Amino acid sequence: MAISMCSWRVTSSIAAARKSDLRGPSGTARFWCLRAAETYVFHFRGARLIRLENVTKIYNSEVTALRDATFDVAKGEFVFLVGASGSGKSTLLRMMNRQESPEKGAVWVAGRNINEMPDSKVPHLRRNIGNIFQDYKLLLNKTVHENVAFALEVIGRPKHVIRQQVPAVLDLVGLNGKEDRFPHQLSGGEQQRVSIARAFVNRPLILLADEPTGNLDPATGEGIMRLLDRINKTGTTVVMATHDQRIVNMMRKRVIQMDRGIIVRDQARGVYE
Ligand SMILES: Nc1ncnc2c1ncn2[C@@H]1O[C@H](COP(=O)(O)OP(=O)(O)O)[C@@H](O)[C@H]1O
Ligand SMILES: [Mg+2]
Repeated sequence: MAISMCSWRVTSSIAAARKSDLRGPSGTARFWCLRAAETYVFHFRGARLIRLENVTKIYNSEVTALRDATFDVAKGEFVFLVGASGSGKSTLLRMMNRQESPEKGAVWVAGRNINEMPDSKVPHLRRNIGNIFQDYKLLLNKTVHENVAFALEVIGRPKHVIRQQVPAVLDLVGLNGKEDRFPHQLSGGEQQRVSIARAFVNRPLILLADEPTGNLDPATGEGIMRLLDRINKTGTTVVMATHDQRIVNMMRKRVIQMDRGIIVRDQARGVYE
């Protein structure tokens, strides 16, 4: 079937699709792949994009980091994961890109059980999922432009696409004029913007953000939240772990609250309790 032949590569293409991408020797094949992907993505619009079903995670046969976690995330949603340190927020995020696998239960992303997916398909899964971290994780010997371009180079995107997409995403995150700076020449907020640009440049279906405002002062953190909100409004699903009470209360998005590995609250337009 066309959809499975095109697979993840296509779902990422559809997110990034530009008419100009259809040119070139393999244009016809790509056209049909994109058509299949449109149908595929349409199917998931408004429907669940991520599903965790009775997920239990036990580290080293002794620490139960998640116990029987079940929830769905719809395409385009913005979800906060909140809870004390050690409650399982980062583990939940790592379940969604198969950095961790459950001892019990299953995780679906875009209709596929990612724990049953062969290892060879995992890179395609991860191309559809951008990651943002508290400590930015930038390459310190590369400039802003190079950090973002690198994310496209490693997945084999052609030079002309990189030339077009990197300036566009740096503009989106408000970093124009700072392309040639190195991370140590940027503020914390600017470094986080680079990391968001890097995560978003391939237009992933999902952004997973782990305490992205954790190292920032309140005003800078608010700016980062406004940016994530804007990215979410483009249709990208955002799942963000945080224990920043102020930000959760300001945004009024869905809140999933964890307590020692158990989901104790799942509330639309919630606050941090
Ligand atoms: N790689 C790991 N190995 C062993 N235990 C871990 C590992 N990662 C997390 N844990 C444990 O799992 C629990 C949940 O951790 P984590 O998901 O990091 O919580 P949070 O992000 O909410 O702080 C904690 O008890 C933590 O010590
Ligand atoms: Mg954590």
